[in-house]
Amino acid sequence: MSKTVTITGAAGQIGYQLAFRIASGQLLGANEKINLNLLEITPALDALKGVAMELEDCAFETVSNIHISDDPNKAFKNTDYGFLVGAKPRGPGMERSDLLQENAKIFSAQGKAINETSSRDIKVLVVGNPANTNALIAMSNAPDIDKSAFTAMMRLDHNRALAQLASKLDCHSSELSNMTIWGNHSTTQYPDVNNLKLLGESISSRLDQTWIKDDFIPRVQNRGAEIIKARGLSSAASAASAAIDHMRDWVLGTKVDDWASMAIPSDGSYGITEGIIYSFPVICQNGTYSIVQNLEIDPFSKECMQITEKELLDEKTAIEHLL
Ligand code: NAD
Ligand code: LMR
Repeated sequence: MSKTVTITGAAGQIGYQLAFRIASGQLLGANEKINLNLLEITPALDALKGVAMELEDCAFETVSNIHISDDPNKAFKNTDYGFLVGAKPRGPGMERSDLLQENAKIFSAQGKAINETSSRDIKVLVVGNPANTNALIAMSNAPDIDKSAFTAMMRLDHNRALAQLASKLDCHSSELSNMTIWGNHSTTQYPDVNNLKLLGESISSRLDQTWIKDDFIPRVQNRGAEIIKARGLSSAASAASAAIDHMRDWVLGTKVDDWASMAIPSDGSYGITEGIIYSFPVICQNGTYSIVQNLEIDPFSKECMQITEKELLDEKTAIEHLL
C-alpha cells in the first residue's frame, strides 16, 4: 500500500528540493509507492500548482498521487510521514519572541489537524524554525498521537559537524561516526566530539581541543548564518538532504555501530528536563528511536548541555499558553 507523505511549505525553498527528492524514491527506496500531499498558505497556491505540475512532468515511478491544498485537515489526512517545513520567516524588526508567537499559531493548527486526520503511527519531522519549540507545540496539540512521533531536525547540524571534522582530519565524512549534537537547533546547540570515531576507532583524544572549542564548535553553531551571508538566503538543499537523512534513518534504521542526532521529547535522560524537544544521540531500529545511554559527560559538556537546555526552557515559557 502507498505511504502518504505530507510536506508543508512545499512551494518554498526547502520544499522545492524535498518534494522532488522524496518523489524520486530517496526517502523510502525505489520499490515504495507514495502519495504526496503538499500544503501551502492560500497566496502560494499558484506557485504550489506549478510545483505539482513539475512533479507530474517527472513521471516518477514511485509516485501514486499528488494532492495540493491550503487546508491542513486535507493535507494531513492519513499522513504516515509529515515534514513540517512551512513557517513564517523572521521579518525586519521582529524579535525571536515575536517569531515564536507567529509560528506557534501555525504549529498548533497543524498539530490539531494531525490529531484529527493523520495515521495514528505518523512520524513528524519539524524543520521550520524555531524547530524544537514548534515541534513541542505541534505535539501538545495532538494529544491522541504518541508524543514520540514528534521530532525536530538536528541532522543538518550533525552533517555540518561531520563535514568540518572530515576536512580537518583529511578523511571522508562517511569514515566518521558517533558524532552528537545536543540541545536546540540554534547557536546554543552543543556539537560534542567526545565519542567521535574514525573508521571505528576512537579519535577524540587526538583532536586539537583549542581548535574544537575556538573554531569547530562556533563554526557549526553559526553555520546557518554563514550560509545566509553567502547566499542571501537560508540553507535549502542541505536542509532538504538532512530532512531525508533524519526520516530515512528513523524509518529504516541508523547505520550499524553509529547513531544520529535527533531532537525528541526529553525523557529526563542525562538530566535534561522532561517536556522539551531536545537533541540526543539516538539509535533507530524497527521504526523507533532510543536514546544512547551511559555516555560519559565531562564538566565542559555538562555546562554546554545546560546552556542549550535553558534556552529551550525559556522558549517553552514564552509559548506556554499555547500548550
Ligand atoms: P521559504 O520562505 O522559502 O519557504 C517557506 C514556505 O512555507 C513558504 O512558501 C510559505 O508560503 C510557506 N508557509 C508559511 N506558512 C505556512 C503555513 N501555515 N502552512 C503551510 N505553508 C506555510 O523558507 P525555507 O527556506 O524553505 O525554510 C523553511 C523553514 O525551515 C524556515 O523556518 C527556516 O528557518 C527553516 N530551516 C530549518 C533548518 C533546520 O535545520 N531545522 C534548516 C534550514 C531552514
Ligand atoms: C540553518 O541552520 O541553516 C537555518 O536554521 C538558518 C535559518 O535561520 O533559517
